[in-house]
Amino acid sequence: MEHKGFTVWFTGLSGAGKTTLADRLAPILRQRGLKVELLDGDVVRTNLSKGLGFSKEDRDTNIRRIGFVCNLLTRNGVVAVASAISPYRDVRNEVRGNIGSFVEVYVECPIPVLAERDVKGLYKKALAGEIKNFTGVDDPYEHPLKPEVAVNSSTETVDQSLAKIVAALDRLGYLPTPPPRASHHP
Ligand code: ADX
Repeated sequence: MEHKGFTVWFTGLSGAGKTTLADRLAPILRQRGLKVELLDGDVVRTNLSKGLGFSKEDRDTNIRRIGFVCNLLTRNGVVAVASAISPYRDVRNEVRGNIGSFVEVYVECPIPVLAERDVKGLYKKALAGEIKNFTGVDDPYEHPLKPEVAVNSSTETVDQSLAKIVAALDRLGYLPTPPPRASHHP
C-alpha cells in the first residue's frame, strides 16, 4: 500500500540531540512500512550545502535547500526526517507552508548542559570567543512557538523523547495502523 508522505523537522541547538533522535526514529517508522530518508545538517553541509557558512543568509539558504528536498520526498510518499539547527522561525515556517504535512519537533536543552556535554568541543571554543556567531552563544536561536512536539534532552531519556514523538505522529494520523493480527476463524 502507498503511504502518505510527511516531514519530521527537528530543530534545536547544536548537540541538543536532533541527530540521535532522528537516527532512532527512522527504524521505528520503517518498521511501520514507511519509506524514510534522513537529511542531517552536518551531512548536508558536506554536499548539498557545501561552501555555505553560518551567516543568516547562508543558514536560510541551507534550510530552504533541505526544505526543498523534504518537499520532493514528502509529495512522493516518503517520510523526510530533517535535523538542522534551523535557528530562524520565519524560514522554518516558510518550509512548513511549502510542505504542508509537517511535524516540527523542538529538541530543547539548556546551554550550560550543552556546554558541559560539548560532544564536538565547539561550545568551549564559542564561549572562549574562538568561534564567532555560534548559535545560542553569540548568534540567535528562535525556538518554535507551537511545535507539534517538544522534547527536552536534559530531563528526558532518548526513549522517553522518542515515545513522545511517536505518540504525536500517531495522534496526528501519520502512522499507518498495524495490520490486524491474523485470526484463525474459518
Ligand atoms: S543551520 O543553522 O544552518 O541549521 P546546521 O544544522 O546545518 O546549521 O549546522 C550546524 C552544525 O554546524 C553544528 O552542529 C556544528 O557542528 C557546526 N557549526 C559550525 N559553526 C557553527 C556556528 N557558528 N553555529 C552553529 N553551528 C556551527
